[in-house]
Amino acid sequence: MSKQQQIKAVRGMNDLLPPESALWARIEGICDELLGQYSYRRINTPVVESTALFARSIGDETDIVAKEMYSFEDRNGDSLTLRPEGTASCVRAGIEHGLFYNQQQRLWYRGPMYRHERPQKGRYREFFQLGAEAFGWTGPDIEAELIGLTDQLFKRLGLEQTELQINCLGDAAARQNYRAALVGYLQSFADQLDDDSKRRLDSNPLRILDSKNPDTQALLVGAPDILDFLSDTSKQHFEQLQQYLAELGIEFTINPCLVRGLDYYNDTVFEWINPDFGAQATVCGGGRYDHMVEQLGGPPTACFGFALGMERLVQMLQEQAADISQIIDNPDIFIVSIGNSARANALLLQQSLCREGVRVQLHCGAGSMKNQFKKADASGASLVLVIGEQEVEDGTVALRSLRQREEQQIIAQNEAVIAVTNRLESL
Ligand code: HAM
Repeated sequence: MSKQQQIKAVRGMNDLLPPESALWARIEGICDELLGQYSYRRINTPVVESTALFARSIGDETDIVAKEMYSFEDRNGDSLTLRPEGTASCVRAGIEHGLFYNQQQRLWYRGPMYRHERPQKGRYREFFQLGAEAFGWTGPDIEAELIGLTDQLFKRLGLEQTELQINCLGDAAARQNYRAALVGYLQSFADQLDDDSKRRLDSNPLRILDSKNPDTQALLVGAPDILDFLSDTSKQHFEQLQQYLAELGIEFTINPCLVRGLDYYNDTVFEWINPDFGAQATVCGGGRYDHMVEQLGGPPTACFGFALGMERLVQMLQEQAADISQIIDNPDIFIVSIGNSARANALLLQQSLCREGVRVQLHCGAGSMKNQFKKADASGASLVLVIGEQEVEDGTVALRSLRQREEQQIIAQNEAVIAVTNRLESL
């Protein structure tokens, strides 16, 4: 087949290959464990949902719904969409299965999300999120719990240099008043705004606060501050959250320009940002979205949650050379065998060793002793078990170190498991 005919992965969608897949597995394991420790329970929802779900929850005016969704008609003519995020699906599933009736829920999910964005480092069209959502708590304590959970997670992973930014968007009335004040202020500079911001002045002016354009950012310095528009209830709520964070020893800055890219938030929003990562600096973001359950047909339910981007998290860990980024999934031991009887013994030994938790790579197929030893070396294993004709006859195996100068040990096959596990422990 010529090169031109070769089928490649879709632009902006990545293959995850070894050895990096081992790092992902380790990170996922740490995340799962921590979420369990905080009493969050797993939920899985389909990758495909009705398009209306996202239009109704994320907001028609957002970039995600207006420009980035992978939507298509299926064979029945129904409009379906590859989920661009997990929150709306979680709410849809919760309503559908009655999870919000007189119950509180702590849920988490992980999986691929799809947004037709311009691909670049840290921004993909298929990307993986880990998210957690708490349903049924109105206070700032649940917010401190979830922000505290993300802080603990980054500490366990050894992620450094991430800064927590928080903001309060207030209730609907506060946002309406603020929106009017912001538009009033920005209209006098309309001709100096970048094109995106000009367009947003009518449709979604709060998003202008998020502009990365330096000229627009300079104009925003004198803009009205959302925190001046908050009700007393929102102010108290936000202050209590700050006190909880201080008690937990979590440093934060209040960023009145933090508005998030989805329209469903009210009151608290937050992001963890690594300033070294330019436009793709946000590794984790979330906030309160108390109206989504009702908007989608469920009972009034307070909600707070977050999602973190796995690709960005992995890249940040790798670039700072965190301990965890060295994780590789090499086998502990490689089994070399020559001949069918030896191979049968090797297969049995592999089973017994795997049962004891040893990571075993078996040589399969033909191959001279020399060739198999080359493969053993390349596998990264520290030990090798050798079974040749002589060993089959004697009921033995030869155990050798691949990395240290040590005498080879000849051991009875029925004692091989003990000998290997002891040797691995002593390494
Ligand atoms: P989001 O800010 O749109 O929030 O996405 C959360 C995280 O997903 C981002 O901080 C980023 O790390 C990652 N991410 C987003 N887009 C991409 C992309 N194109 N490529 C790579 N990574 C990306 C949400 O999705 C909300 N559902 C979060 C939430 C949960 N709010 C309340 N509950």
